[in-house]
Amino acid sequence: MSITILGIESSCDDTSAAIIRDGYLLSNIIANQQVHIAYGGVVPELASRAHQQNIIPVVDRAIKVAGISKNEIDAIAFTRGPGLMGSLLVGSSFAKGLSLSLGVPLIDVNHLQAHILANFVLEKDTTNHVPSFPFLCLLVSGGHSQLVVMNDYLDMKIIGQTIDDAAGEAFDKCAKIMGLPYPGGPVIDKLASEGNAEAFAFAKPKMTEYNYSFSGLKTSFLYFLRDNLKNNPLFIEQNKNDLCASLQKAIIEILLDKLLKASNDLNIKEIALAGGVSANSGLRTKILSEAPKWNWTTYLPAFKFTTDNAAMIAITGYYKYKAELFASQDIVPMARMS
Ligand code: KG4
Ligand code: ZN
Repeated sequence: MSITILGIESSCDDTSAAIIRDGYLLSNIIANQQVHIAYGGVVPELASRAHQQNIIPVVDRAIKVAGISKNEIDAIAFTRGPGLMGSLLVGSSFAKGLSLSLGVPLIDVNHLQAHILANFVLEKDTTNHVPSFPFLCLLVSGGHSQLVVMNDYLDMKIIGQTIDDAAGEAFDKCAKIMGLPYPGGPVIDKLASEGNAEAFAFAKPKMTEYNYSFSGLKTSFLYFLRDNLKNNPLFIEQNKNDLCASLQKAIIEILLDKLLKASNDLNIKEIALAGGVSANSGLRTKILSEAPKWNWTTYLPAFKFTTDNAAMIAITGYYKYKAELFASQDIVPMARMS
């Protein structure tokens, strides 16, 4: 018997709905919210209002594109957290209402676990390359930077994480310092491809075990620019590509140092990436080029599954459905989750 899951994602500023049947993606609709660009970051109040406007058309479209009727949905998976409370409330309330009206179970999904399980979304007419257990996942997004050992689909252990800013935050904040638009990660990625990564060097943190820290790098970047702007007000403008390339190189080195240490210590050679920053072309190229040296088999999610999307919520819902892990109607979203 086939299993069809509707996934709903609304943790931050993307409203998304997806249909997955037996692990295969049938649709994945994402409505981005342009309203935040003018503010240089996500404004929570505006995000929840935009989710209210988007949620019904986005879910409706996901069902239509999948070519199914809503009566074929076996369960509704939604993001419980972590995320912005106002945003989470829109998705979770909608999921609850729809599950009641269709008479199907509700499945709560941890957004971070979903980013990792995005590596398991299967697509028809594609060579699907999925990790085997146990694997090590570098989860890098706008809100989190973690090293996670995945022993099974629903059995994960966080072995390291950032003590301050996330990698995506480092990209976004440094972009803002340079006057680049939000979100800064993709912009830095693009400019870095035209720059010299050896042009400048920035301080790197000394962290214990598998933990990360990015706030020192951000401060070092800020002071470096401030000092240089004193002598040359056009310093950023004249060195934009080199600044982006050097900064990106520093972030990638920080991420890979700990990933390599964990891989060696735990002797896990199956390595996956997840989260918005895993879209970074420099990070992807570096991992692929270094993999043979470290004897790694690598798994890089397709670009459309790196940043927030509901396909990752639906695939997590699929595995929770198989494990019969359902939620009750009194479940509440959580801005922070362990
Ligand atoms: O996973 P995600 O969509 O949302 C969170 O759960 O946080 O990640 C968003 C983050 C942002 O910080 C954005 O700048 C970063 O991912 N990002 C990138 C790239 N694309 C998105 N960072 C570096 N290079 C990229 N190409
Ligand atoms: Zn995310």
